[in-house]
Amino acid sequence: MNIAIIGSGGREHALCQKLSESKKISNIFCFPGNAGTAQIANNLDINYLNFKSLLNVIKLLKIKLVIIGPELPLVMGLTDFLRKNRILVFGPNKYAAKLEGSKAFVKKICRKLSIPTANFKICTNFQQVKKYIKECNLPIVIKADGLASGKGVSVCKTKKKALVFSKEILNGKFKNSKKVVIEEFLEGEELSYFLVVDKKSFKFFGSAQDHKRVGLKDTGPNTGGMGAYSPARLMSHDLERKILKRIVIPTIKFLKKKSSFTGFLYVGLMIKKNNPYLVEFNVRMGDPECQVILPRVKTDLFNIIYNSCKNKLNKININWKKSKALTIVLCSKGYPNSFKKGFEINNLKQISKSKNFYLFHAGTKTNGNKIVSDGGRVLNFVGLGSSFKTIRFNIIKKIKEIKWEHGFFRRDIGWRVIKK
Ligand code: AMP
Ligand code: GLY
Repeated sequence: MNIAIIGSGGREHALCQKLSESKKISNIFCFPGNAGTAQIANNLDINYLNFKSLLNVIKLLKIKLVIIGPELPLVMGLTDFLRKNRILVFGPNKYAAKLEGSKAFVKKICRKLSIPTANFKICTNFQQVKKYIKECNLPIVIKADGLASGKGVSVCKTKKKALVFSKEILNGKFKNSKKVVIEEFLEGEELSYFLVVDKKSFKFFGSAQDHKRVGLKDTGPNTGGMGAYSPARLMSHDLERKILKRIVIPTIKFLKKKSSFTGFLYVGLMIKKNNPYLVEFNVRMGDPECQVILPRVKTDLFNIIYNSCKNKLNKININWKKSKALTIVLCSKGYPNSFKKGFEINNLKQISKSKNFYLFHAGTKTNGNKIVSDGGRVLNFVGLGSSFKTIRFNIIKKIKEIKWEHGFFRRDIGWRVIKK
């Protein structure tokens, strides 16, 4: 079968790598992919947000299954469009994608279903914001309602900052966000919990802890993710039971009445005294969480995806390796603020190959026979093993092999789980 992967990040390279190991796939096409996927699949630089031209290419290349990596095409309804044209799609439809596309939508569901989450207020004008903030304790979390590429959330230590950021949102800083969600600040430790879902059932798809802040010990501005490890430190049977009972099952039941969900569901949680609170849903794999979860999966990924597209997920088992995995993201200097692109990355080919090591590309592209940086998050160094400390030590050695002066990375990924 010919398949396509939509997207160009580290997540999509990890998906591509895992799918390339399946014997059931003839050709993988990446729209548009990156310099890493180019080594194992066929990249095609097309604008996947132009649904009609995408469909023409899909038909021309006899692609039977499309896997959508990032959130934007899901929120815009690419799944609905392709399904109408009889293409098999792994990814939720437009209604279900509102779980990620609108924070106000999720908060309303939480209230309706009594799902544990931070107290909140949805505001559509500045008067409401001012009135509510007056009564809030600090810090206050201010969120743009719609997608904002990870930039729409600010944890504000002063009321002034909260007012300024809310005003920016209402004034249209994030195009699709006409509402502000104001939240109480939740203390605790974050955990990302993943599921594969189809119409009839769902299955656990790993846990991870992401490091979203740019600075050591999780300080500084939010990024897309500077590194991650899997399984997450706090995961236990008891916690999982609570996550499923209090958050996942009510949400999936609710969705079933109005829609159907096929794809990955990412449950972003804050854990406080072994109790889960919902921070966010995402309707896709996390990036970089995907890069540490997929290498731990033993089962053929194509089987998992194909069976869920056919609503037969309940017929298969997902098996896991015993190994742990950790990734460090090498970023362009300046990220998550402004940074320059187009710097050659030397020595990539010389990085010593070893078992239990993966190098997933993110913001890279091929320029002639060179590989150049093309984004904020550039490369994901991933290791597997039995000790997070040893994995991290070995990864940092590999990063040093490329000597790329335009990059930086966090050396403390996994600090909560790696004791000195
Ligand atoms: P979100 O896009 O909603 O996941 O928010 C991005 C990040 O902001 C989360 O991963 C948390 O680190 C932080 N955050 C969001 N909401 C809260 C909250 N209510 N309390 C504490 N931290 C939060
Ligand atoms: N790593 C966070 C995300 O994928 O949203």
